Amino acid sequence: MNEFADQIVVVTGGAGGIGACCVADFAAQGARVFALDSNADSLKDMMADMPENVSAITVDVTDRAALERAFNTIATSGGTDILVATAAIVKRESILDFDVQDWGRIIDVNLTGTFHCCQLAGRQMRTKGKGRIVTVSSVNGQIANTGRGAYSCTKGGVDMLTKMLAAELGNQGITANAVSPTPVDTPMIKKVHGPKDREVWHQQIPAERYARPEEVTEAIKFLASDKAAYINGHILNVDGGFMASGVLFR
Ligand SMILES: NC(=O)c1ccc[n+]([C@@H]2O[C@H](COP(=O)([O-])OP(=O)(O)OC[C@H]3O[C@@H](n4cnc5c(N)ncnc54)[C@H](O)[C@@H]3O)[C@@H](O)[C@H]2O)c1
Repeated sequence: MNEFADQIVVVTGGAGGIGACCVADFAAQGARVFALDSNADSLKDMMADMPENVSAITVDVTDRAALERAFNTIATSGGTDILVATAAIVKRESILDFDVQDWGRIIDVNLTGTFHCCQLAGRQMRTKGKGRIVTVSSVNGQIANTGRGAYSCTKGGVDMLTKMLAAELGNQGITANAVSPTPVDTPMIKKVHGPKDREVWHQQIPAERYARPEEVTEAIKFLASDKAAYINGHILNVDGGFMASGVLFR
């Protein structure tokens, strides 16, 4: 089934775990996909397995001028129909010890970078009179897990950015929603979670496991589809029941 045939889909962080899964899936559904990522090597590796309807653009989401050039290129192909904003970085550090420069970089990439992409894609959607914005947030945007200071604050910001977009663009055929996962088995999580972390999380998640990138991608595709036309400003937890739970006695 070519559910997204001829749709122009932009995936930021397109070479990452969730991003690359989205790129492959939307492409398989007939979309014309642009994978944007700052890591040229990862993009090159990813493109080796991608079909012809995928294009890669190396760009840092904090570089406004370069992003504008990237979205100008996308405009020449018809402009963005669907934006999936996944680009983000994470660092584990307690608030009192957080390095100020690291704090600033995480805010720049995760929050301001997402804003740049939503604004540039949103302008193209406004011209077209339709569009879908799906941001990739985290349960860390709603609750404070220790050691996630800057990251959590950016994801709380991404949730509100998503709601702002929903409120301001909802009368223009555009929806903005977020998916909000607990840990997902991707390169990002492998960098920050060791066996002990996994054990602690498994105990707290009713599903007793991490999400797979494909499971997050399914939620993203739903929010990007016509089926979700009346869902706007929603934060969809993809969390194995984590946010619904209290203390779990095993
Ligand atoms: N993996 C998890 O456990 C998990 C859980 C909850 C939420 N998330 C969110 O899901 C999204 C994707 O995470 P992932 O696990 O696939 O991470 P990942 O590290 O595998 O992929 C992130 C991608 O973003 C790219 N990127 C980083 N900084 C960039 C920048 N400045 N400009 C452009 N690209 C940049 C990286 O090169 C990488 O390819 C993120 O927003 C993350 O916060 C992940």
